[in-house]
Amino acid sequence: MENLAREKLDFKYDSMITGLGFAVPKKVLTNKDFERMVDTSDEWIVERTGMKERHIGEEGVVTSDLCADAAKIAMERANVSAEQIDAIIIGTITGDVGFPATACYVQNKLNAVNAVAFDISAACSGFLYALELADAYIASGKYKTILTIGGEMLSRVTDYQDRRTCVLFGDGAGAAIIQPSDGTRGIISTYIGTDGHLADLLMMPGGGSKYPASIETVKERMHYIQMAGQEVFKAAVKTMGDAAVKILHDSGVPGDKLKLLITHQANTRIINATAKRIKIPMEKVFINIEKYGNTSAASIPIALTEAVEQGVLQKDDLCLLVSFGGGFTFGAVLFKY
Ligand code: ACO
Repeated sequence: MENLAREKLDFKYDSMITGLGFAVPKKVLTNKDFERMVDTSDEWIVERTGMKERHIGEEGVVTSDLCADAAKIAMERANVSAEQIDAIIIGTITGDVGFPATACYVQNKLNAVNAVAFDISAACSGFLYALELADAYIASGKYKTILTIGGEMLSRVTDYQDRRTCVLFGDGAGAAIIQPSDGTRGIISTYIGTDGHLADLLMMPGGGSKYPASIETVKERMHYIQMAGQEVFKAAVKTMGDAAVKILHDSGVPGDKLKLLITHQANTRIINATAKRIKIPMEKVFINIEKYGNTSAASIPIALTEAVEQGVLQKDDLCLLVSFGGGFTFGAVLFKY
């Protein structure tokens, strides 16, 4: 019975995406701008990463502003009022302040008075972690309307004297409203994982219990992202490929049935390798890294929203989302839009 369902790609759906939105700051930093800041070139950045521009928040803009702006668009498209929202779950590693959670600020900005609100710290996989939780909450019957967001301002923790990292990151937020499925489409499967032995490859060491903020931590530039680029690259290629293979295998969905693959936008070479691993032609892969750079947890919901806005992903299309991030965290979500 189950095999027959899989052959027909007919699944039991608990939850579905009913609205999407994204927001990025107006200010743009181009590769040419970086040529004036550090020893780099447009050619190197495009060839090694695929990036051309990234949006950087103006002074005074905070992560919860971008999250709330993205959420308002998603809510309007889902026809959901602020009072209807039962939970707000935000994937972020660059919240407004150390604590409380950025989701608390977003709850207040939206006046979503009935929503429980909390953050997930899973770096670039934060949005997929949030989607898995939302799907499970809806399946359990506990909540009916969940606002999931990936929102970051990596520019605030980027060392603009370090050419190895500064060209990579941008700011933004993407939001999705998750509600019970209409029975014909929705989330088919979610898979998230962690490999803590790689935790130190990608981190911001200062400001926690290990290295509390001090004059020394500031002098040592410990409040900026530190990354072992090549090792992260190798681990990313492996973990995203493994996650994609696993979710397709476990769901019984052949790769060629996918309409679209959207991965975390960290580097076009990593995206290409993931597509190759599951034999997806590049015309079925959505890439917008050239416009936004790596926006961490925001990259997948921004790309997903653009894919829908551009008509690349349409109702009933099968789509696979795959991520990796500091932690190491990784995840995949397979759904019928
Ligand atoms: N401009 C010019 N040269 C540069 C730059 C730059 N911006 N950055 C590094 N280089 C130089 C290096 O110094 C090195 O020079 P050297 O040989 O004289 O020492 C040379 O380029 C090669 O450096 P590599 O690090 O080997 O370059 P690589 O091809 O690996 O590309 C990159 C570097 C783009 C960082 C790549 O390793 C990568 O994308 N890694 C993964 C990054 C990633 O995905 N991070 C995820 C973060 S997500 C999150 O959780 C926040």
